[in-house]
Amino acid sequence: MNDINVIAIDGPAASGKSTISQLLAERLGFLFLDTGCMYRAVTLAALRRGIAVTDETAVTHLAQEIDIDIQPETGAGGRHGRHSDGRHYTVLLDGQDTTWAIRTPAVDAHVSQVSSYLGVRQEMVQRQRLLGARGGIVMVGRDIGTVVMPDAPLKLYITATAEERARRRWHDRRRQGHEADYDAILADVKRRDGIDSSREHSPLRPAADALMIDTTGRPVDEIVEALMSLVKGQYSVSSMQ
Ligand code: DC
Repeated sequence: MNDINVIAIDGPAASGKSTISQLLAERLGFLFLDTGCMYRAVTLAALRRGIAVTDETAVTHLAQEIDIDIQPETGAGGRHGRHSDGRHYTVLLDGQDTTWAIRTPAVDAHVSQVSSYLGVRQEMVQRQRLLGARGGIVMVGRDIGTVVMPDAPLKLYITATAEERARRRWHDRRRQGHEADYDAILADVKRRDGIDSSREHSPLRPAADALMIDTTGRPVDEIVEALMSLVKGQYSVSSMQ
């Protein structure tokens, strides 16, 4: 049986990968790290400091200088409990709580560009590898199986059709009490897919040895159960924490 202490998960926006990864991490007692938060935090920092997101040099320096900390939600229910506002973790940017600020449409609009810069990626990948080296982690993003943790014993590539992903985004925004226009969201999902998968550095693509999972029309719980059976059947689980 192979030892498993890192699970690398990639896929496009709103594919269901975050929800699935969170549940897997919870069931395995692993840490959950959503690496998209880190690119979002860099984008928010640029917007807040008035740095043009098109200025690659300035954005790269900023990425190297800011402090980003992602803390698991401890809540009443233990390490993986839930905060009353629904967060699963807290994102601190230079010590300030930016958990929700990194999810605004302004950040959505610019994060693909910021994450396309080589220097920004190198800085974030280095930080992610340090966290990954501790083990006992489910790491989620676009390049985890291909670049950040290429030796991870289990790699998943989670996807769904663009229409299904736009529907989920639409529901999320409505649930948060915002106006939402389905056609605009669908166009944005497609636009970001295009940038993420055609960018020069670490484009979004499945690792050669990734297990492909299409979540279109499939309940999350069913997918998580199937993954848990796979993990328990083929791996011995060891958290290094
Ligand atoms: O998963 P998300 O929507 O929070 O990701 C935000 C952006 O960051 C998205 O444009 C893809 C990019 N990203 C990336 O390039 N590499 C990662 N490992 C994670 C996210």
